[in-house]
Amino acid sequence: MTTFGYEQSLGYDRRATRLLTGLYRRIATDIDTRSAHSATVIDLGTGPGKLLSYLATRRPDLRLHGIDLSPHMIDIARRNLAEYPVELAVADVADLPHPDASVDTAVSSLSMHEWPDLPSAVTELHRVLRPGGAAALYDFRFTRTREIRRALDAVFGAVETETIRLPWHPVAVITCYRATA
Ligand SMILES: C[S@@+](CC[C@H](N)C(=O)[O-])C[C@H]1O[C@@H](n2cnc3c(N)ncnc32)[C@H](O)[C@@H]1O
Repeated sequence: MTTFGYEQSLGYDRRATRLLTGLYRRIATDIDTRSAHSATVIDLGTGPGKLLSYLATRRPDLRLHGIDLSPHMIDIARRNLAEYPVELAVADVADLPHPDASVDTAVSSLSMHEWPDLPSAVTELHRVLRPGGAAALYDFRFTRTREIRRALDAVFGAVETETIRLPWHPVAVITCYRATA
């Protein structure tokens, strides 16, 4: 399985800072409005942890966790999040180090299309969600859409989708998949 190497992770961190601020803000607002006080939120495939930094600033009460398959991404996330009490770990989304039913919200941005075994990953994220917990999964609108939808439907039953346009792009390129455990 390929993963983000050192140089690639540094490059992504720089590009994400420039290009994806609008998306991170949008997702942080979404999670903010839907999260109870002190809720546990996990960011799956957190990369350099940008989304978590927006969430930590906006909602210091949340218990924030981030995992990523790439140790280089997690090193960068640790640097970017040094001032915040965020729990970070190198882990595969299909084998999370979290107990059953321990998470209120699972979020992910632009990572799902890279998960090699979507059914196993979705089963695992469902395992860590408490009953009634929410998944809000953002990814490119035209990448593995049917496969993602099928994997989510099989585990969660009902899945809602929302199409999102980023401020700098004329075409809506992001889909948010929402499901409740
Ligand atoms: C395009 S980056 C997105 C990073 C971040 N979520 C963002 O929006 O900036 C995709 C990330 O997903 C991670 N990833 C890919 N497959 C994964 C897996 N099976 N488990 C955990 N993380 C994974 C990659 O290492 C990478 O950091």
